[in-house]
Amino acid sequence: MALSQPMKVRAIHFLPLALVLILFVFYGNFEISWSMANKIAALVGLALAAITFLLGPLARFWPNLFAKYISHRKYLGLFAFAFIVVHVALSIVFYYDLSLDKMLYENPKVLGFYAASVAFIIFFVMSVTSTQKACGMLGYRTWKMVQMCGYIALVLSLAHFYILETKGEKGFSVRPLGYAVFALGLLALAAKVIAVLRHRAKTAYEQHVQHEAAHAHAVSGKEGVLKAAEEEGGGKYCPPGSGFG
Ligand code: HEM
Repeated sequence: MALSQPMKVRAIHFLPLALVLILFVFYGNFEISWSMANKIAALVGLALAAITFLLGPLARFWPNLFAKYISHRKYLGLFAFAFIVVHVALSIVFYYDLSLDKMLYENPKVLGFYAASVAFIIFFVMSVTSTQKACGMLGYRTWKMVQMCGYIALVLSLAHFYILETKGEKGFSVRPLGYAVFALGLLALAAKVIAVLRHRAKTAYEQHVQHEAAHAHAVSGKEGVLKAAEEEGGGKYCPPGSGFG
């Protein structure tokens, strides 16, 4: 991660560590094994990714409370990816025994594997393009589109989680904190949908008011009273703490 200025240590920087400890104690009951390490890495990665995506909509709904965390999305997003890398490595070595057959040809849950692989590629691309320099090279629009693909990766990650942890008659069955992480992922998606719908409704309303004002201006010849509504999200430049938004 390329940081232009020295970073002040803040409470939010301890979130990855806090999540590991919480899951180690309350999810894994202090179990030390490759399998538990793998599950905890997967859950911390997913939880951090969900929190990263949640911060954008939360900052729009309650700017006073959450706007200050927006600049930490890159930090959290890169940590999310790091945990996912650990999870993928442990899964390939200990769960699939480095066997392509087990991963692809004899895998009853191959759909979950494909979903995870595509999600992983998206998170990878997001991570390597999370710098201001990459944003400058790609151009804001393309870069923003890449970053928005994170939501597709989140959907695919949840599908992967659901498919891999669905067991016969028990259905989707995990420990309570597993459900909590799954719910956090769904919450991040729901918040984004609400934020987009609210933004669309606002833009449609502003366009309507502008149209009315232009009409009144044309009819009366008087100065219109409205300024053009500024696009939300502020500008088309590459933000300094780029990435994961
Ligand atoms: C974006 C990428 C990914 C995310 C967010 C993710 C997340 C998760 C989560 C949350 C679980 C459930 C953990 C639990 O409570 O048991 C899981 C399980 C699993 N994932 Fe992933 N995963 C990702 C990519 C991958 C990839 C690429 C592979 C394959 C190489 C993989 C292999 C597995 C396996 C084998 C399990 C089952 C582990 C077990 O039950 O012990 N995952 N993953």
